[in-house]
Amino acid sequence: MTTDNWTEIKAACEAALPAEVVAFIEKHKGTPHSESQLIAILHMVQNTAGYLSKEQMNAVAQLAQIPLAKVTGVATFYHYFRLNPRGKHMINVCLGTACYVKGADKIAQRLMGDLGIQFGETTKDGMFSLESTRCLGTCGLAPVVMVDDQIHGPVGPGDIATLLDRYTTKKKGAKAPIPV
Ligand code: FES
Repeated sequence: MTTDNWTEIKAACEAALPAEVVAFIEKHKGTPHSESQLIAILHMVQNTAGYLSKEQMNAVAQLAQIPLAKVTGVATFYHYFRLNPRGKHMINVCLGTACYVKGADKIAQRLMGDLGIQFGETTKDGMFSLESTRCLGTCGLAPVVMVDDQIHGPVGPGDIATLLDRYTTKKKGAKAPIPV
């Protein structure tokens, strides 16, 4: 922000946030914002935008009169919040017990190597985001990887290139799980 004019600052903050967030903050104006309220606000922002940008976190801080350090602290503390745009495809590697004992860590390492990103990051081309998760409820297929809403398993490190290739070259409607 380059102006001291609160009206302009407020307008810019409101423009950066979904209307429901602005309304929520307005509704709770005058009462101290608890951490649970802040989490609810950040959830609303992320549900609309897919992630929390610096501009949006700053807007939340300004409008709700919460120190920016507290907003960014909550956003970075909770694994659920994303600070970068989400890729076209979301890859979740299950690191639950059943998958872990069957080599999920090797699958994770292979994915990180092939994609050139760590957990919580998105590839430069915007194609894939990588996350870890705990037990997807399909332990019988362990180790499993979920891409978007599709479970793949059992998956080995040697299957990763084929798996990624199927999504980068995927034709519309080709959603069958990979029988690996
Ligand atoms: S531990 Fe991976 S699906 Fe249950």
